[in-house]
Amino acid sequence: MQQRHIGPFEVSAIGLGCMNLSHAYGAPPAPEVGMALIHRALDLGCNLFDTAALYGFGANETLVGQALKAHRRHITLCSKGGMAGVSFADGVKRVIDGRPETIRKNCEDSLQRLGTDVIDLYYLHRWDKKVPIEDSVGAMSDLVRAGKVRTLGLSEVSASTLRKAHAVHPIAALQTEYSLWTRNPEIAVLQACQELGVSFVAFSPVARGFLCGELQDVAHLANNDIRRAMPRFAPDTYASNLPMLQAYVQIAQEVGCTPAQLALAWLLHKDPHLVPIPGTQNIQHLQDNMAAVDVRLSEQQMQRLESLINERTVKGNRYNPQNAAEVDTEEFA
Ligand SMILES: NC(=O)c1ccc[n+]([C@@H]2O[C@H](COP(=O)([O-])OP(=O)(O)OC[C@H]3O[C@@H](n4cnc5c(N)ncnc54)[C@H](OP(=O)(O)O)[C@@H]3O)[C@@H](O)[C@H]2O)c1
Repeated sequence: MQQRHIGPFEVSAIGLGCMNLSHAYGAPPAPEVGMALIHRALDLGCNLFDTAALYGFGANETLVGQALKAHRRHITLCSKGGMAGVSFADGVKRVIDGRPETIRKNCEDSLQRLGTDVIDLYYLHRWDKKVPIEDSVGAMSDLVRAGKVRTLGLSEVSASTLRKAHAVHPIAALQTEYSLWTRNPEIAVLQACQELGVSFVAFSPVARGFLCGELQDVAHLANNDIRRAMPRFAPDTYASNLPMLQAYVQIAQEVGCTPAQLALAWLLHKDPHLVPIPGTQNIQHLQDNMAAVDVRLSEQQMQRLESLINERTVKGNRYNPQNAAEVDTEEFA
């Protein structure tokens, strides 16, 4: 597997997003199936694993920690705090809370669930706009000094928030949604990352399934599938974006790769400091995704892809108004 860099870490050019093994896209697989998938990723040369306190309200960190325990020294383990499940009288709910005391508690809980003494890359999952970013990142920098985390990251923040945070403590990575159909990072954060020497971790790099070509009918998504709350996955909007896929799949055929590999190869060609972290529950898809490091695209193919799928041709917002208000990213109107 080709390697790239995040802060001091040499990581596989494609990492594994583990969220899907406990949360998000319908029923999660049984834990032993998730463990087997993580082990297959290791066999394929993947050494970058992404989880969060939020995923499965802790279950994902427990799974990832168990699966990687014997391999801990050979991998880069990434988790996130500042957005987690909190118990209320009517059940556990997702809460964004970036207060220093919460970040300290989130990190302790994550270390325990992961079964490790230190997290390699610890992200602030969302900037809590009620708390100055300097205060949240200040608390995270205390975690570095205490040896509980090695490096810091942010998720879904603007270029200006990244700069403010970076002035408090060096930020190793910014994680944000980026794919052919979500081009917002091109407005400002990719440039800011380049200037500051911050690596970019692209989440939802295969467009939550859209760019894989297999998801044709969103009406059958499970009731608890988070895509049901996303405007682009509303049945009419999704159907109106599907025709673009015909020309896209044709480019994949010309290149000699699968549609998912094309999406990942496009990202890898965009920026040498970028690492995509696709997620999957399916071993065949995992193998497909990891092999995308070997796909080569010409400048002309890159341009054809970019003029086919971009912020003007894709219909529908990526987030509903509530989730859009929770992020701090520059967005195409
Ligand atoms: N920081 C944040 O706020 C944030 C937000 C979202 C996600 N993330 C991270 O990013 C990771 C990846 O993002 P994501 O899961 O949202 O989106 P994604 O990786 O773009 O897409 C995942 C979806 O695509 C399908 N898929 C993946 N590879 C495929 C292939 N080769 N062929 C066909 N279908 C394929 C998966 O279904 P199958 O299971 O059937 O393969 C799944 O439904 C997550 O696991 C998480 O770690 C971070």
